[in-house]
Amino acid sequence: MKNIVLIGFMGVGKGSVAREIIKHSDYIALDTDDLIESMENRKVKTIFEARGEAYFRKLEKKVSHWLQKSVQDTLISTGGGFYKQKNLKKIGTIVLLDSPFDAIIKRIKEHPNAAKKIKKRPLLKDLKKARELYDTRRPEYLKVADIIVDVTNKSAQECAKEVLKKVKRL
Ligand code: S3P
Repeated sequence: MKNIVLIGFMGVGKGSVAREIIKHSDYIALDTDDLIESMENRKVKTIFEARGEAYFRKLEKKVSHWLQKSVQDTLISTGGGFYKQKNLKKIGTIVLLDSPFDAIIKRIKEHPNAAKKIKKRPLLKDLKKARELYDTRRPEYLKVADIIVDVTNKSAQECAKEVLKKVKRL
C-alpha cells in the first residue's frame, strides 16, 4: 500500500477525513503538525510566535524527509503549507481536498469549537491575508495533486469513501 498524503487549505477538513479513512481501511494515520508538535513539545502557534514561520518550515522539511525514508502504508494528513516540500510526490499519492475559500471559512465558523480552530492557526488570523494565501496556493495545490476530491458540503465520511475509491482506481 502506497502512502496517501492529504493536502489542502487550512480548515478544509484534512484531519476529519483522515480519521474517517482509517476507520474504513488498514491505513495508520499520521499528521505532520502533530509530529512537529511532539518533536518540539509545543503547539504550532507557539512555534510560530517563538521562532517564526521560517523555522516551522524547516521542521516541515525535516518531517518530509523522514516520511519519505521511513513511513509506509500510512495516511498522512498535512499542514496547509506542507505541499511545498520538494520530495512531496516521493512520499505517496497526493490527494487534494478542495473547496472554495468562502466554503472553508463557513465550515470553520459553524464548528462548535470555531474560536479555538481559528486561534490555533496563525495564518488564519487575518482573513484578507488568508484569502490571498488561498488564491496563491490553489493553483499550486491543483498542480501537485494526483487526485482531487471536492469536499464542499460533503460529510467527512463521504469524502473518505471518495478518497479510497479514487486511490484504488489509480
Ligand atoms: C499552515 C497550516 C496549518 C499549520 C500551520 C501553517 C499553512 O495546518 O501547519 O499553521 O501554512 O497553511 P492546517 O492546514 O492543519 O491548519
